[in-house]
Amino acid sequence: MKNVFSMLCITALFVTTHHASAGPRIADLKDYPNATGSARSFSPNGALDTRNPFFQSLGSNGRSCITCHAPDQGWTVTPAGIQQRFDATGGLDPIFRPNDGAVSPHADISTVDARRQAFAMLLSKGLIRVGIGIPTNAEFELAAVDDPYNFASSAELSLFRRPLPSSNLRFLSTVMWDGRESGPGATLQENLIRQALDATQGHAQLAGVLTQQQLDDIVAFEMGLTTAQVTDANCGKLDTEGGNGGPLRLFQQDFFIGINDPLGQNPTGAAFNPVSMTLFDAWDNLQGNNAQSHERAAVARGQRLFNTKVINVTGVAGLNDVLNQPVIQANCTLCHDTPNVGNHSVGAPLNIGLTDASRRTPDMPLYTLRNKSTGETVQTTDPGRALISGKWSDIGKMKGPILRGLAARAPYFHNGSAATLSDVLDFYDTRFNIGFTAQEKSDLIAFLRSL
Ligand code: HEC
Ligand code: HEC
Repeated sequence: MKNVFSMLCITALFVTTHHASAGPRIADLKDYPNATGSARSFSPNGALDTRNPFFQSLGSNGRSCITCHAPDQGWTVTPAGIQQRFDATGGLDPIFRPNDGAVSPHADISTVDARRQAFAMLLSKGLIRVGIGIPTNAEFELAAVDDPYNFASSAELSLFRRPLPSSNLRFLSTVMWDGRESGPGATLQENLIRQALDATQGHAQLAGVLTQQQLDDIVAFEMGLTTAQVTDANCGKLDTEGGNGGPLRLFQQDFFIGINDPLGQNPTGAAFNPVSMTLFDAWDNLQGNNAQSHERAAVARGQRLFNTKVINVTGVAGLNDVLNQPVIQANCTLCHDTPNVGNHSVGAPLNIGLTDASRRTPDMPLYTLRNKSTGETVQTTDPGRALISGKWSDIGKMKGPILRGLAARAPYFHNGSAATLSDVLDFYDTRFNIGFTAQEKSDLIAFLRSL
């Protein structure tokens, strides 16, 4: 097996050396350590070609895509990585730019101490300020703003969001937390091309445009990436003894839009299968009696809980209202349905309650929105999909992201509100009154961190 893959890599290297000179390359299959093991990326191109425009400063502020999508941080950025950059540069690294790195574009960045305040959301939770205004045709208006940084208005709300990983993209059913880069009827390729241009004009403050070649190269690069956890501190290698963790198996994973959809949009007509995760089936009945075998058994138990633990889903806009069922007896996989990947297999923005006023922390702005026809008001830290569709019913809706490579990229959720996987489970436990036992929690964590 090992030989086949190294041959594949060597062949691919020859195939892709059409560039005249050999530039810097990040060796393929390189492991990057993280808190609980290491993650690895696989690319059929054999090596990560750092001459790709993904790595180049193409705008006016020194930023490139890897400024916020770093290979050693799960293709996003983590607070630890950002703090290191701050300390190494006194807060002058290109990620520290006021347009969207700071709490407000007007924040004082004249001294190191001022920069520490201005970039507090990046430093604490790895959050970028996404600025989106209320669309003119919206069913709602902004009745009040409580922005601790005195900037947000209906022309531009400040939404503090985690960069999504720029890897495993071929599994996407929708691009961005709010799906705003998924045009109706457009292909994933077209969406990612538009995304790459928007990212360069926005984050990197490019006044002009990129060439088609640059855009094609960026998208070819990111679409070639497959990333997963490959070793775990407790279980060792995640792709042995029948375990199917790691990026090579993920690279072979089948996917099409609707491949496993609880709302009946599978194009083959196949029924929804709540057992969406099967990576660690073989670890269910391990014979070994050493510490590693015990840990592998915990991963298998966690996977079974993910597939089968009953959750009474209530009050989720996009599900309970659509299905007209006040309580849906479900599992984690009702929403994390793509086999062995865990995002929604169709575009399905959902409001699971993370943006509710009751969960607001003092560092987040709070917006009061008023329905133009009913006068009803609602408070939210991020209107999500509603700022794209203008629909009242879309307030607070976000996509369910891909769940691979999680260990490399805490904190979790769009707003980084869960510092650890344990905090993620606590959210679900309180939100849906699940009543996890301590054992169930630790098994689920063992599973999630092995993805
Ligand atoms: C300043 C930080 C920053 C830079 C620079 C940046 N991004 Fe991002 N990226 C983000 C954030 C934040 C999001 C999520 C925003 C949202 O959904 O509202 C994101 C989302 C994405 C996504 C969506 C993934 C998904 O699951 O939907 C892709 C793809 C992506 N970026 C690619 C790129 C590319 C290509 C570049 C360079 C042209 C780039 N990014 C530059 C911060 C950045
Ligand atoms: C009702 C639908 C639903 C259910 C049930 C559900 N999730 Fe989620 N999950 C989501 C959505 C939507 C998000 C993204 C929310 C956000 O960040 O705004 C998410 C995000 C996550 C994330 C964070 C990923 C990241 O990159 O930040 C993890 C981890 C996760 N879910 C695990 C679970 C586990 C474990 C369960 C079962 C205990 C579960 N989910 C049940 C819909 C659901």
